[in-house]
Amino acid sequence: MKIAINTGGGDAPGLNAAIQAATLAALKKGWEVLGIKNGYGSLYTDEPFIPLTKERVRGITFQGGTILGTANRGNPFEMPYKTEDGEWALEDRSDEAIEVFKKHDIDALIAIGGDGSMIIANKLAQKGLQIVGIPKTIDNDIWATDVTLGFDTAVTTATEAIDKLTTTAESHHRIMVVEVMGRYAGWIALHSGLSASADVILIPEVEYSFDPIVKKIEEREAQGRHYTIVVVAEGAVEKGGDHFVKGKVIGQSEQLGGADEYIADKLSELTGKESRSIVLGHLQRGGTPSSYDRLISLRFGAAAIRAVADEDFNKLIVMQKNCITRIPIQDVAHKMKLVPLDGDTIQTAREIGICMGD
Ligand code: F6P
Repeated sequence: MKIAINTGGGDAPGLNAAIQAATLAALKKGWEVLGIKNGYGSLYTDEPFIPLTKERVRGITFQGGTILGTANRGNPFEMPYKTEDGEWALEDRSDEAIEVFKKHDIDALIAIGGDGSMIIANKLAQKGLQIVGIPKTIDNDIWATDVTLGFDTAVTTATEAIDKLTTTAESHHRIMVVEVMGRYAGWIALHSGLSASADVILIPEVEYSFDPIVKKIEEREAQGRHYTIVVVAEGAVEKGGDHFVKGKVIGQSEQLGGADEYIADKLSELTGKESRSIVLGHLQRGGTPSSYDRLISLRFGAAAIRAVADEDFNKLIVMQKNCITRIPIQDVAHKMKLVPLDGDTIQTAREIGICMGD
C-alpha cells in the first residue's frame, strides 16, 4: 500500500501531529508514505512529493505549521493561469492531478483540510481517488465534527491576547475592539471572548446593531467601569450591512478584514470615548499546538490509517461526543457548522451579561 498525505488551505496548529500519526501508523503496517509538497499545486511540478519516513516525522508534534507546506491556491478544479491577454483565469486540471496519483501508484490520499479541501476531496473521490479526510481549521466550522484540529490553540492564543488588551484598555479608559478569525462561524470569537470576559461579542450568526452595544458601554460607565472590550469575528455583519472585504485574489476566497476599525470608529463617534482596534489575524494560526490539539490530531491521523486499512474510503474522520467516527465526505461538502443560537455557550454569554450585539 502506498499513501499520500496532503495539507491544504490555511495552516493550523496540530497539522504536524496528524502527519506524524498517519505516517507512523502507516509505516508500521509496512506501507509507503509520501507527503504532497505545498498542496495540490505541486502535482503539476517535477517533484510533487516528499517521502515521509520515521526520521522525517520525528519530534514534530509540538511544531506549528505543516512540514509539508500548504497553499490556498491549489484547487485542481480551479487552477489559476495567465491568458494571452495577460489576465488571470481559472482552469480545471483535475484529470492531470488524478494521472499523477496513478503514475506514482498511490492507492489512497489522506486529505487534511477545511471546508474548501473537503469540497475538493469530494470531487476527486467522484473521479475515482480513494480518500480519507481529516478535519482541520482554526475556525471549527466543519460540519458533523464536534471539533477540528487547531481550534483549541487558536482560542487559547486569542484569549491570552484579549487578556493583555484588557489591562491596557482599563488603564486608558478606552474601548478596545479585537478582530479574530471566523469567516462564517463565530466559534473563536465566542469561546475566546467568553473565556477572556469580553463585554461585547459579535459573531457572523447574529447580526449586530450599535444601539445595544452603546447601551452596554453606557451601563458600564455608570458602574464606574470606564473601558469596554469588544471581540468581533472577521465575518460579523451589521444589520442591513455586509462583510468587510480587504481583497480578492483569483483562485482564493475573499480576504476579510476591517470590521474592527469600522466598529471602533463608530463607537467613538457614538459614545465620545477613545477607542482602539486590533486584528489578531494569523497569530491565531501559528505557534505550538495545545496538548488538546496535539492529542486530537494524533487520534485523527491514526484513525485515518485505520480507515484506509478497512478500505473504508471517501470518509471524513470526525469527533462526535469525544469518540472518533467516520462519515461520508459528501455529507460535509458545502455544509458549515455554525454556532447554534440556542446552544448553552451563547446562552451562558447572555446570562452573564455579555452583549451579543442584538
Ligand atoms: O479558514 C481559516 C482562516 O483562518 C479564516 O478564518 C481566515 O479568513 C482565513 O483563514 C485567512 O486565510 P489567509 O491565510 O488566506 O489570509
